[in-house]
Amino acid sequence: MAEHHQDEGTERVRPDDGRGPLQAPAGTHDVLWPESLRWERLVGEFARRAELAGFGLVINPMFEDAALFRRGIGGESDVVRKEMYEFADRGGRSVALRPEGTASIVRAFVQHRPPVPWKAWYVTPAFRYERPQAGRYKQHHQLGVEVLGTDDPDLDVEVIALAAGLYRWLGLRQVDLAVNSMGCGACRGAYVAALLAYLEEHRAELCDEHRQRYRANPLRVLDCKRPPCRAVVEGAPRITDYLDEDCAAHLARVRQGLDALGIAHRLEPRLVRGLDYYTRTTFEFAALSLSSAQNAIGGGGRYDGLAEAVGGPPTPGIGFGIGIERLLLACDAEGVFAVPAPAPAAFVVDLTDGAAARDLVAELRGAGLGALRAYDGRSPKAQFRQADRSGAPVALVVGPEELAGGTVTARLLRAGGEQESVPRASVVSWVAGHAGGAGETRGGT
Ligand code: HAM
Repeated sequence: MAEHHQDEGTERVRPDDGRGPLQAPAGTHDVLWPESLRWERLVGEFARRAELAGFGLVINPMFEDAALFRRGIGGESDVVRKEMYEFADRGGRSVALRPEGTASIVRAFVQHRPPVPWKAWYVTPAFRYERPQAGRYKQHHQLGVEVLGTDDPDLDVEVIALAAGLYRWLGLRQVDLAVNSMGCGACRGAYVAALLAYLEEHRAELCDEHRQRYRANPLRVLDCKRPPCRAVVEGAPRITDYLDEDCAAHLARVRQGLDALGIAHRLEPRLVRGLDYYTRTTFEFAALSLSSAQNAIGGGGRYDGLAEAVGGPPTPGIGFGIGIERLLLACDAEGVFAVPAPAPAAFVVDLTDGAAARDLVAELRGAGLGALRAYDGRSPKAQFRQADRSGAPVALVVGPEELAGGTVTARLLRAGGEQESVPRASVVSWVAGHAGGAGETRGGT
């Protein structure tokens, strides 16, 4: 569920032979129309919902000082240790492409000190050097929110509800929400000591990597997907048994709030997530319709020490990130969120030299009406075929006779193909009057 990464094998690097067609790097992808319509609709709806809850859009740089991620996410996390696109720029500075959105938002908060509570939403590419497979990419995209400046548990509920509401709006039904608390520094310290003692005892049974590394970051073992570690983790101490009074009360209030809002969830004491900044509330949404290795469609939590870690004043914070590609895979798996391509209000068929089509589409678009035309002096037959495919309810035909008479022939492309002659001067308002019926769609999802 949490993001995990098998050991990265070295990929074969093929030198460019200077001739063959070039392709997008493995683990990246182009989003073409009409698939991109789903992205537009999804981002638009997320923005609408976030803004209703007081979040404002924040746009951060795609790359940052690599130290930000090392200090913020943790130098012992897989994301930083194995997956970060880190390089020296031409000036010799160590920079990294952002592997996620939270550290940059918190860095921006520390840098600009906006009034709190500061509520930011974002949509961003994120770069992780992972072994590409379905649902796991080297460049993926996240929708996210972050709130800085309060540790009120009701805010945790609000943040979780925002993600849950988006999944519901999409029509997803098979979503599991796991919730946990990582405790504060004090209770986590006690827990990590107990976990370490347990892992010492079971050292020999751990997977090869964690047998070597469990001391550096024992919590990572809880997140390990390999069977030997999973077996050891079964009997490991649970963080929920180590929470102090305040942290336990915080978790109880969050769960109560989720219940009050009708958000089904389960307590998962082994949910530690792959980034080291979490304190107290952590949560993860999994799409049960996807295979379990890549079924996390969103996750987040509190990071009450992160602002301080990147050099700011102690400031609590919480947020989540939703992987857009994975979310859309889950929609496909459940057969929901098909977004039809909008049809234009009219298709202009020009049987003269194209100038009439040039001018008429400009006028229609200027009036806010979708208008398409053919190019390259296509034959009437080809133009009508294109008009049909466009999904437009009407073809506006301009031939020599119409041109001479100052009219346009409006031919309905559905329902019997009736046509009428419309004065050229009133054709835009005629289309506007008929555009209500332009709800049909053209090719694609
Ligand atoms: P994360 O769990 O690492 O958290 O990523 C968030 C989401 O991004 C995942 O649930 C998944 O949907 C998607 N994702 C992650 N890695 C990949 C990948 N390689 N390919 C495709 N999708 C992926 C974070 O990034 C935190 N910044 C979330 C957060 C915000 N915590 C607090 N505030």
